[in-house]
Amino acid sequence: MGIARIDCLSFFHYICYPKTTIMANQRQVYIETYGCQMNLADTEVVLSILTSAGYGQTSSLRTADVVFVNTCAVRENAEQRVFGRLGDFKRFKKENPGMVVGVLGCMAERLRKELMESESHVDLVVGPDEYRRIPELLESAINGQRGIAVRLSRVENYDDIVPLRTEGVSAWVSVMRGCDKFCTFCVVPFTRGRERSRSLESVRREVEHLAAQGFREVTLLGQNVNSYHDGTSDFADLMATVAGIDRTLRLRFTTSHPQDMSEKLIQTIADHENICKYVHLPVQSGSDRILELMNRSYTREHYLRLARTIKDGIPGVSLSTDLIAGFPTETEDDHRQTLEVIREVGFDGAFTFKYSPRENTKAWHMGDDVPEDLKLERLNQIIDLQRSISLRKNQELIGRDVEVLVEGESTKSSSDLCGRTDTNKMVVFPKGTTQIGQYVTARIDRVNSATLFGAVAGTSSAKSGEPRLAASA
Ligand code: SAH
Ligand code: SF4
Ligand code: F3S
Repeated sequence: MGIARIDCLSFFHYICYPKTTIMANQRQVYIETYGCQMNLADTEVVLSILTSAGYGQTSSLRTADVVFVNTCAVRENAEQRVFGRLGDFKRFKKENPGMVVGVLGCMAERLRKELMESESHVDLVVGPDEYRRIPELLESAINGQRGIAVRLSRVENYDDIVPLRTEGVSAWVSVMRGCDKFCTFCVVPFTRGRERSRSLESVRREVEHLAAQGFREVTLLGQNVNSYHDGTSDFADLMATVAGIDRTLRLRFTTSHPQDMSEKLIQTIADHENICKYVHLPVQSGSDRILELMNRSYTREHYLRLARTIKDGIPGVSLSTDLIAGFPTETEDDHRQTLEVIREVGFDGAFTFKYSPRENTKAWHMGDDVPEDLKLERLNQIIDLQRSISLRKNQELIGRDVEVLVEGESTKSSSDLCGRTDTNKMVVFPKGTTQIGQYVTARIDRVNSATLFGAVAGTSSAKSGEPRLAASA
């Protein structure tokens, strides 16, 4: 399955085209995925369910019998993009009337019947907790019966389903689903339901299997991954267990909520060489008044203290964040405080968003009073400031050696490879004899705010090589 990141600046938007496997009389499924890594991981679960039910996969819309789009509802523009794609699918369906079109994921959960009513060519609407029912719903759809399944579950975690992954360097492993935080701007608690965790044992088994398959990096996923608890073990216990499986397997995790970032977890990250020294810790705003309106459950002071504790506890750690510009009632002074926090923490990177009102959230009822042009102006100020900080931090690495796990060809040049440091910085370097999946040491000779450029200064083998510590950022 080839995965193309199509919009990495405005959060995680991917399209993924499954590989083509055609057997006689087998129905072919085409699936596109938008949204966060949780959605990508869910697509692998859906593909696993469909394969077990006898479906094949295709990367061609034209030859598909079934077309699915796994959707995101977090902001208006994520939904608009999907509506655009549904328009394209409508044209394909005219040429191939037997084709089944299905909407999966968070938009399916949020819009439900409305989606069926407004998009007459959509046959199936299936929310994130109902994927086991897809084969049964597909059979009915093939016989002309449109279907909708959007019940949220308190227990479904697809624990027993082995996601259908393509061999590669990195794998995602969902360890918990849902969110109980109810930030006032966010649809996720409504589209993904209540928090629930998989058992530590099932995660351990899955990661052991991935290590045996040759994966070199695993990212543990959850909307609030650090609130993981399986009744006995917390997230720090889970991280320590998974890190102990194979010392050459890098371990990442996302996304952490500041409220659940325990000292035990910070210590666990520091104690394990193969847990990446990188923490994504969304702050959203630097103003206490806005943080309270957002229901984020921490103050600016608490966040700053936490960032300090993480930096002191994990030498060389890199920190990134999420920021929203133009939340309802945000004043110039609130915005200035956000810029201050960005400066004070000195993030290595940030995902930045214009506030997008979402129906039925609490913030929806607060209005959307920051004018669009002002939101954009504030967003640009945030982006400019963060770029200058990222550039300065990257410049400190010029002349230094960093360890890189090689992920693939650079998107800009086929004579270059790229990979990330354990601090999550992208490094591009000439191919030479380097293989994908190897750990290499790269000497950095130039940088911009998003990428480090260099040349390989040493290699360790993909299977037996032990990761050395990356140079600290
Ligand atoms: N669970 C994660 C991320 C959830 S969504 C967390 O809590 O950090 C990813 C990011 O999208 C959020 O961190 C937030 O910055 C942004 N986001 C969510 N809802 C939004 C909205 N209505 N408008 C703009 N940005 C939003
Ligand atoms: Fe949304 Fe907040 Fe939950 Fe993150 S913690 S998914 S922003 S409600
Ligand atoms: Fe989007 Fe749903 Fe993920 S709303 S960010 S796909 S949890």
